[in-house]
Amino acid sequence: MKKIIEECIKINIPYLNYVNNLLLKDINLLSHSKKVTYYSLCILNSISIEDNLQQYLKLFCSSMLHDLGKINIDDYILQKPSSLTEKEYEIVKTHPCESLKIMNEFCLEKDISDAILHHHERYDGKGYPSGLSKENIPILSRIIAVADAFDAMTSSRCYRKRPMLKEYALGELLENAGTQFDPYITGSFIKLIESGKIHLGWEFSL
Ligand SMILES: [Fe+2]
Repeated sequence: MKKIIEECIKINIPYLNYVNNLLLKDINLLSHSKKVTYYSLCILNSISIEDNLQQYLKLFCSSMLHDLGKINIDDYILQKPSSLTEKEYEIVKTHPCESLKIMNEFCLEKDISDAILHHHERYDGKGYPSGLSKENIPILSRIIAVADAFDAMTSSRCYRKRPMLKEYALGELLENAGTQFDPYITGSFIKLIESGKIHLGWEFSL
């Protein structure tokens, strides 16, 4: 997997430096984006029959960018230790669209912008921003959703000092497979983690 990531970086995506510099404003967000990218590519590698570098590259870009819009959301909301009000949650929910606005001038490929926009859709159709369900959610978004949730649970957060144990996080994914998450992708990720093929918390440098 590290080799595939090296190849994606080597391709020299024109906006990657720009994105990296923006994410450097929030070191935790940069670290989250890299870990989600690594986990997402591992998932794609485990579920795809053919090795298609273009598909890896699309997933690499969309997972690096998925939460970029959070840099436009007030730290007061993102780092709030208590529950968010309805109004604050509505603001948080704008971040996939904000990511696309930030990248507007770069004319992202449609598969990449769709993957970013829909990474908070739920398999049961109760997610945002469009309420898409099952296979109507782009496959890259369904992959990012699982990787994103796992990294969020196993990393420190302002509202939760200690990260969750890997076993607990996997239990949460399993419990929400078929409602929040694509059950096939969730099952594949759980198998990958349990096989020890994934290096938890690994980060590449750009
Ligand atoms: Fe997000």
